[in-house]
Amino acid sequence: MSDFPRKIIIDTDPGQDDAMAILLALGSPEEIDLLGIVAVAGNVPIERTSENARKICEVAGRPDVLVFAGCDRPMAHTLVTAEHVHGKTGLDGIELPTPTMPLQKQHGVDFIIETLRREAPGTVTLCPMGPLTNIATAFEKAPDIVERVQEIVLMGGAYFEVGNITPAAEFNIYVDPEAADIVFKSGVKLTVMPLDATHKVLVTAPRLQAFKEFGNHLGEVVAGWLDFFERFDIEKYGSKGGPLHDPTVIAYLIKPGLFSGRFINVEIETQSKLTRGMTVADWWGVTDRPKNAMFMGDADADGFFDLLTERVRRLG
Ligand code: BDR
Ligand code: CA
Repeated sequence: MSDFPRKIIIDTDPGQDDAMAILLALGSPEEIDLLGIVAVAGNVPIERTSENARKICEVAGRPDVLVFAGCDRPMAHTLVTAEHVHGKTGLDGIELPTPTMPLQKQHGVDFIIETLRREAPGTVTLCPMGPLTNIATAFEKAPDIVERVQEIVLMGGAYFEVGNITPAAEFNIYVDPEAADIVFKSGVKLTVMPLDATHKVLVTAPRLQAFKEFGNHLGEVVAGWLDFFERFDIEKYGSKGGPLHDPTVIAYLIKPGLFSGRFINVEIETQSKLTRGMTVADWWGVTDRPKNAMFMGDADADGFFDLLTERVRRLG
């Protein structure tokens, strides 16, 4: 029996790279059954992320997708945002119309809970691409859903690449380490796309050109987003292009062989002022702490971009 299509919920703070992840999911109906998108506060505040999620669906020609607003702030601290990376709107790079598709009235956390209770146990995968606030809040509010989750495949953390928002921490985990701690300790099957993997998938000039060559509105939008998004990382890392973090989550679900890593213990630092939000990954197996996460370390960049380009082209 085929494992496809996999039922997923995307939990996101769009974000140009989040946008590409949503497009990849929508362009892959044979493998991905997108039950809904839940916005979270992260790159920009919730008003923006929930609007951006709808703009992305409309660009993809999918105003029927259910979009919810989730938590507007981290569990224990004030929100840190990343306009310096994503621009004022969170989705800078090309002007898009205000979306006309509705934002669902139900709170995003309740949608996650209700969906997991409704669907058969072990059939829904959660795909977080922002701070883990919504997922952890749902687990706290409804502990019965934890064992019903098939898998969590998330973008967050780093080991060899260490940090991108502080010297020690990756943005998604840093914004809400208390939430990340709950998720990493939940016992749910966990697959992690850290910076170690996502910094391997760079939007080089020829890869950007492939989107421009669509010759349609979608290609223009994608090129606008990626052009804008990568300037920050190119400047910071001196790399050949910006890393396309969040679509790795969806690419993994479609073609897991594009990524390799180790099943290890990963714990979240919540106490230290200096290293708050660090993913302490026992890559070398130097402790006997229980293994809780498949932590990716490498990616087939050409294979990833071939898949992404092919699937996004379908939407045009
Ligand atoms: C992560 O942080 C956000 O800015 C990106 O959208 C991605 O999810 C990378 O650290
Ligand atoms: Ca994101």
